[in-house]
Amino acid sequence: MTHKLICTIPKVASTYEIEVQQGLLSEATALAEVLEKLASRVAIISDTTVAPLYAQGLQSALSRKGLNVDLFVFPSGESNKQRATKEMIEDQLCKKGFGRDTCILAIGGGVVTDVAGFVAATYCRGVPLIMVPTTLLSMVDASIGGKTGVDHPLAKNMIGCIYQPKKVFVDPAVLRTLPLNEFKNGIVEMIKHGLIADSDYFDFLNSHASKILLLEPSLLEESIWRGVLIKKNIVEEDETEIGKRRLLNFGHTIAHAIEHATAYEIAHGEAVAIGMLVEGYMAVELGMLSQNAFLKIDAILKKYALPLLIPTHNAVRYRPELLMQAMTLDKKSLRGKPRFVMLRDIGHADPCAGNYCMPVEEETLLKALRWMAHAFCTS
Ligand SMILES: NC(=O)c1ccc[n+]([C@@H]2O[C@H](COP(=O)([O-])OP(=O)(O)OC[C@H]3O[C@@H](n4cnc5c(N)ncnc54)[C@H](O)[C@@H]3O)[C@@H](O)[C@H]2O)c1
Ligand SMILES: [Zn+2]
Repeated sequence: MTHKLICTIPKVASTYEIEVQQGLLSEATALAEVLEKLASRVAIISDTTVAPLYAQGLQSALSRKGLNVDLFVFPSGESNKQRATKEMIEDQLCKKGFGRDTCILAIGGGVVTDVAGFVAATYCRGVPLIMVPTTLLSMVDASIGGKTGVDHPLAKNMIGCIYQPKKVFVDPAVLRTLPLNEFKNGIVEMIKHGLIADSDYFDFLNSHASKILLLEPSLLEESIWRGVLIKKNIVEEDETEIGKRRLLNFGHTIAHAIEHATAYEIAHGEAVAIGMLVEGYMAVELGMLSQNAFLKIDAILKKYALPLLIPTHNAVRYRPELLMQAMTLDKKSLRGKPRFVMLRDIGHADPCAGNYCMPVEEETLLKALRWMAHAFCTS
């Protein structure tokens, strides 16, 4: 079944379709039709893992349909989401004479969609962009909403811009080759979407956990398009993260501090899973969230077999003061104080008078961090 969702960003008068369908990529007909209308040359951008799996096949399929297509590949991994990669691609595009009539097609996980999106945003002052996300995380999160960019050695996602694509094609069939740990990174963001905005979706993910983990096609497809719908609805309301889009950061203030403290040794999804529990714990402490709802969050994460463990061979770095210091660098911080998205219930986050996040007393935060050390740190 095909699910077509329309994303409209009024401020920049941008409207685009997000199409979710099994097998979309193998046919490539729909893709070719869209590309033909956008430009006379296509630059596919991918990474070294996804290129042999999908990008090369796609290049051949599109060429057979008469399109003029080149493929640009950079090494996989977050460490390559950097300015040098963007420059390398731009140099190659220039050398090959790509001009304004170019369409960039990003095929890969969030690293590829972020880098390729940023290239598209600035090449010839902006050329059309098509997203083909191939990780679960990029399907339900990174490819929707227009955030593009690269990391700086001192900070993640430091350089970039918001640039909306012309279309997003999601083919869940490609998830068959995705390693389980990467798949779970996406699952955690989907659970987060349910927690902040849609209790029915949370219940759906909860009841079908075992089949979704086995990639049962129709349940997987439903879990994806419903996850996309939540993200899309939020970014339609707040493209630039001055309000409601902050909700997507639930669990992330703590997660970023954990990632920082472990020098990114822990997977993003695992850090966010723990972050959602710690931030949920604070909401319980503040009387905003019921114990029962908190236990449901704990239960779903265990159903999806998330490890919920912080490696502690460098335990000294988990000192609460150091974690709190890392949190003050969070983008939601106000006057050096971290702010947190607060859950009221499953599917409902507190609007916090339009701020969608709030500071908490140092005492509450310290108590939550001590609980975290006790509950999740291996010894
Ligand atoms: N722009 C946004 O709004 C937004 C939102 C969330 C995350 N992000 C960014 O996304 C990035 C993380 O994305 P990610 O989790 O997709 O990681 P990733 O892009 O690094 O992909 C993970 C790994 O899986 C491989 N891979 C991708 N698709 C595959 C497939 N179908 N089969 C086998 N292997 C495959 C990749 O080559 C890579 O090695 C981060 O840089 C993060 O900052 C951006
Ligand atoms: Zn995340």
